[in-house]
Amino acid sequence: MKALILSGGTGTRLRPLTYTNAKQLLPLANKPILFHIIEKVIEAGINKIGIIVGETSEAVKTAVGDGDRWNAEITYIYQPDPLGLAHAVKIAQDFIGEEDFIMVLGDNVFNMSLNSLIENFHINNADSAIMLYKVENPSQYGVAVVENNRLVRLVEKPKKFISDLIITGVYIFNSSIFAAIENTEPSARGELEITDAIQELLSTGGNVTYEIIQGWWKDTGKLQDMLDANQLILDEIITDNQIEQKDDTVYTGKLMISKSAVIKNSTIAGPTAIDDTAVIIDSYIGPYTSIGKGVEIINCEIDNCIILENTKLEGINKRINYSLIGKNVSIKAADKRPNANSFLVGDSSELYL
Ligand code: TTP
Repeated sequence: MKALILSGGTGTRLRPLTYTNAKQLLPLANKPILFHIIEKVIEAGINKIGIIVGETSEAVKTAVGDGDRWNAEITYIYQPDPLGLAHAVKIAQDFIGEEDFIMVLGDNVFNMSLNSLIENFHINNADSAIMLYKVENPSQYGVAVVENNRLVRLVEKPKKFISDLIITGVYIFNSSIFAAIENTEPSARGELEITDAIQELLSTGGNVTYEIIQGWWKDTGKLQDMLDANQLILDEIITDNQIEQKDDTVYTGKLMISKSAVIKNSTIAGPTAIDDTAVIIDSYIGPYTSIGKGVEIINCEIDNCIILENTKLEGINKRINYSLIGKNVSIKAADKRPNANSFLVGDSSELYL
């Protein structure tokens, strides 16, 4: 079995970060989302991986490389325009050939192993197997209608309630999906939808099975989803918390911190990930915070945040929480009067003071 990971798209809902970053390279617990996915695929014993790339292709290739670090063989497939998930599958046909393949959206994270879906696909001799997730409000998603343990129909964003099982971004296909895609028309938003292609498979007698996720799953398309996913991943840190308790800093909870980070006169309350090149002085770093490479935090209080590379925060007199702060950002207390707020802020930024 091969794997196909979709890392094209535009990531409009995560602007302004996606003006300068590939959404799939944004970090959760200091590791790019895409790496979390690649590791799940490798864990399932698959090492031939195709990655769909779009306008951020160079950044993705530079970050991921040829797969050597995972003992994997990575092939990049360029999608000039994000014409839909089924379009991405279509252009990967040469890479896939006749093999079965697992497809994962490059912005999805989850804690389940992929093995049970793979087993389910094989045991049922299926044409496709899809991962479903039970949610309270399914109206914004594609949903699956299941009757007598059989998947009978898929509906995109249903206006009336028909099922609380949403279609996640994890699928397995055999090569019959390519013919189904050929028979699929672009949707109203102009994309070739994978939901329509799977529905086409079902309608033409294809055997589509499913698995309901028992752990957690998150689509990281928006700010709150990123913070939630960061929290879920940090909650799973396994650590014996052997940080040397130095007189001037108090450490509590589960921590991913290297000894070489410079931390002085602070309180660090996990679950928290702090890169080994970060500097934290006279500060409080609260739960569910990920602090990236070269970040400096001086005289601040922070919790529930993701802070990207080389950002500097200093002397902010109100706690910063539920924030996603990009690379090379500088937020400092004004050091002279008038004591006013003053900004150089890029397009589509959001500030709550
Ligand atoms: P989406 O989240 O549906 O789209 P997007 O990434 O463009 O984001 P937004 O809606 O905020 O503009 O895409 C899910 C994943 O699939 C994501 O990793 C991007 C990828 N993708 C492709 O690789 N090719 C495509 O044609 C599309 C639509 C998405």
